[in-house]
Amino acid sequence: PAQDEARIDEIKRLLEANNAVLVAHYYTEDAIQQLAEETGGCVADSLEMARFGARHEADTLVVAGVRFMGETAKILSPEKRVLMPTLEATCSLDVGCPADAFSAFCDQHPDRTVVVYANTSAAVKARADWVVTSSIAVDVIEYLQARGEKILWAPDKHLGGYIQQKTGADMLLWDGACIVHEEFKAKGIEDLKALYPDAAVLVHPESPASVVELADVIGSTSQLIRAARELPNDKLVVATDRGIFFKMQQMVPEKTLFEAPTAGNGATCRSCAHCPWMAMNALDNLAGALREGSGEIFVDAELRARALKPLERMLNFQR
Ligand code: 13P
Ligand code: SF4
Repeated sequence: PAQDEARIDEIKRLLEANNAVLVAHYYTEDAIQQLAEETGGCVADSLEMARFGARHEADTLVVAGVRFMGETAKILSPEKRVLMPTLEATCSLDVGCPADAFSAFCDQHPDRTVVVYANTSAAVKARADWVVTSSIAVDVIEYLQARGEKILWAPDKHLGGYIQQKTGADMLLWDGACIVHEEFKAKGIEDLKALYPDAAVLVHPESPASVVELADVIGSTSQLIRAARELPNDKLVVATDRGIFFKMQQMVPEKTLFEAPTAGNGATCRSCAHCPWMAMNALDNLAGALREGSGEIFVDAELRARALKPLERMLNFQR
């Protein structure tokens, strides 16, 4: 629509005027992803967003995603201004892991190495030895396990359970979940597989174990997009937020993509597998943040210094 065109032009002008770059997650709306690409920003998974923001020489990072992504960008680049379209965009994993309760849990288990998922507040990261994202979680836990370390893992119990099962590591799990991925149902995927036996199943590891068990490929958003390209299958059932379909379909225009059902009867619920917080990012509030300098992320200096260490371990980790 013409209104969107005007907003897009305005955002392009404001990005340039502010020496700003747009860093967007695959779950944000198509227009934001496209704009990030067109203006020299990036569309990425959470680890790549962190790397991109930290390396970029812009004065301002505009992070379109959820709160922890903006905070991570600020922790890694305190000298940059970090803006978000809205500061209301949180994540059920972050909400479900309050820093005080988490810290008390860690205190009860001083013999364990604390590994937290990136989907957490700066205060939770500050209590951790390691931060990981879904793309390197398995590798980091394998490395720690080889050193004989016992793990305290938070907050996603599904991702934690998957890693535990895959690596055999000794992991104590916090009881958190992603409200989006938790809704995928094995029965619905099995029904789709019965209809299309040659379809491959791609699953984000925040999904329940029964869904992960059906997967041909398990990975972060970027890893799933790569797999869509590399797999020989021309039909793909994808269990993650539907925002991913924009980039994935661009990458494999010849393939048929199916949203993994979120209802047990095999019906696809189009509004379910979409993160309500990611959906708060829109062209309007993105333009507003740039125009007014609203939605700025601040992280307390002392907290930042502590949260930086486990984040840097993640960025420097090499297999
Ligand atoms: P990725 O690390 O795959 O981008 O996942 C982040 C996230 O919030 C998934 O729900
Ligand atoms: Fe958090 Fe799930 Fe939304 Fe990702 S999709 S930001 S894990 S609530």
